[in-house]
Amino acid sequence: MRVAPSILSADFANLERDLRAVASADLIHVDVMDQHFVPNLTIGLPVVRRLVEVSPLPIDAHLMIANPDHWAPAYAEAGAASVTFHLEASGAPVRLARELRRCGVGAGLALNPATPVAAAVDLLGEIDLLLIMSVEPGFGGQELIERSLAKIAQARQLIDSAGLAIELAVDGGVDETTARAVADAGATILVSGAAIFGSGNPAQAIRRLRDQAA
Ligand code: DX5
Ligand code: ZN
Repeated sequence: MRVAPSILSADFANLERDLRAVASADLIHVDVMDQHFVPNLTIGLPVVRRLVEVSPLPIDAHLMIANPDHWAPAYAEAGAASVTFHLEASGAPVRLARELRRCGVGAGLALNPATPVAAAVDLLGEIDLLLIMSVEPGFGGQELIERSLAKIAQARQLIDSAGLAIELAVDGGVDETTARAVADAGATILVSGAAIFGSGNPAQAIRRLRDQAA
């Protein structure tokens, strides 16, 4: 099980310090929000560029933005290891996934809670990571939507039956109490913000998530 701390819950005045505090994780999850696709605004390209430079771990840029077809490749050029865009926001997801891969980064596809897993079936061969949103995107610290567990299991089945090696990430409400169920359903990456950065001891929180998921 891989753990991806979401820096949405980090201290935005001390991002470099907080990146170091979670260096025992596997990758860093960076939430880019534009106040259009979601009702919140975070950071954009200039900050992501700097995060890439100072991060000890690879970065997955989770783009909760309108028009990812236009913006996502720039995040690949900024040095993200993978760029995850929302199916709901993309006009041409196959073309975008291919373009990201051509840039040499992992192509990630995110699905909102109301988007069925079946909507991603024809894209599985084009992507490296499928991200199931287990909360409505926009804010950290929300409770995991129970129905997400069935979606994770469904995604796991589709990925396995297609014989693909796609990472299955789960984002939203993942903490010590939900990590086991999420892992049992078939996730390979736990994205977690509040449970890690709100804990007072991020390294211990990462260990606990891994223990729960093991
Ligand atoms: C929500 C973001 C998540 C969020 C998860 O829109 O995409 O990455 O930070 O935070 P927690 O773990 O606090 O639910
Ligand atoms: Zn996210």
